[in-house]
Amino acid sequence: MPAIVIVGAQWGDEGKGKATDLMGDSVDFVVRYQGGNNAGHTVVIGEESYALHLLPSGVLSPHSVPVIGNGVVIDPGVLIKEIGDIQARGVSCERLLISANAHLIMPHHVSLDKVTERYLGQARIGTTGRGIGPAYSDKVARTGIRVQDLFDPAILRQKLELVLREKNQVLTKVYNRRGIDAGRVADEYLEYGKRLASYVADTSLILNQALEEDKVVLLEGAQATLLDVDHGTYPFVTSSSPTAGGACVGSGLGPTRITKVLGIVKAYTTRVGAGPFPTELTDEVGEWLRKTGGEYGVTTGRERRTGWFDAVIARYATRVNGVTDYFITKLDVLSGLEKVPVCTGYEIDGVVRADVPMTQTEFHHAKPVYEYFDGWWEDISNAKSLSELPANARAYVLALADMIGAPVAAIGVGPRRDQTIQLRPLI
Ligand code: IMP
Repeated sequence: MPAIVIVGAQWGDEGKGKATDLMGDSVDFVVRYQGGNNAGHTVVIGEESYALHLLPSGVLSPHSVPVIGNGVVIDPGVLIKEIGDIQARGVSCERLLISANAHLIMPHHVSLDKVTERYLGQARIGTTGRGIGPAYSDKVARTGIRVQDLFDPAILRQKLELVLREKNQVLTKVYNRRGIDAGRVADEYLEYGKRLASYVADTSLILNQALEEDKVVLLEGAQATLLDVDHGTYPFVTSSSPTAGGACVGSGLGPTRITKVLGIVKAYTTRVGAGPFPTELTDEVGEWLRKTGGEYGVTTGRERRTGWFDAVIARYATRVNGVTDYFITKLDVLSGLEKVPVCTGYEIDGVVRADVPMTQTEFHHAKPVYEYFDGWWEDISNAKSLSELPANARAYVLALADMIGAPVAAIGVGPRRDQTIQLRPLI
């Protein structure tokens, strides 16, 4: 009964979709357990590239069942469009399952996400503007609307009227925006409900039964450890729990079911949006990393901030997720550097520390302490084993494994599924 969690070990965009896709054919269920259409996975199969936002990457494998778990927030209009677009490219979505307990992103969530960010000015978080934070706020405040409410028109209307009574006051009186009509939204969402009805299921029950039957369940985190609402660089975080613990809450599987936690780290670091980033490069080297690595958001198209590998945050990710194995992605991007710096500690107020500081104030003041590794010039994009890597690239990977405190199971040397060096079984 293997249940494997895939978790980003940095600030997102580590290439989690590739790891999921690589296991595709051996996996029976691929579950998204948090986040919403703020996520963006790019999966390259052969010559085809797919950008997925809400659909789990398992949708691309004819052998696995893609599941949107209860911990996800769903914008139903976006999901219906994504299903339509991918079906138009010949990918079947028939097997998709959606938890009846998942919360919905409503029009007022999107409006509030945008106006509150504008209102914050310089202090803004740099959200994706998709309504994620406001949807999770309502979930916790117990004023959220769930997938199952789409099948009870009277309840849906009642909940919407209640919640919009307050939200419209905020939208019109605080932010000077137009109010939202409850009846119109109810009609629109009931229509969405009709189109999604055939996918809705008791996903926690199905997943637990699958594990009893020895099926392989993959729990696919969106965003990443340092964007976790509890363990990330708060308040510059997303509003859910991408860390491995969130996989249980967001899917309805108990912690004793999890057999492996696969951390995904990029061979360097990127971040989108505001917040501390000790190894950030704001010069032409950073621009070179962005261009060479194609570091532009899948969801928003925004330029990603870029920097060197930070072993301090990766070690932290090992700790808070209980990572058992790592997948290092995009090693090929670093080819051609004279020296490859790796941050091994932070200098904070004159003292060098090996761990993530306890407070955000200290994190903001952290200066990276680097160790410099010899670079390599060769094209490594066809390497199939560790021995096919140039000695310096091999030394870099082995040093990272040592610093981050968990073995490396795979190394990505290019975007395609077959551009991977596998060292240990992923399942
Ligand atoms: P939100 O998730 O839209 O509320 O945005 C909160 C923060 O998380 C912002 O800094 C976003 O840029 C960041 N974020 C959200 N989703 C992703 C992602 O998939 N990759 C990287 N950063 C993300």
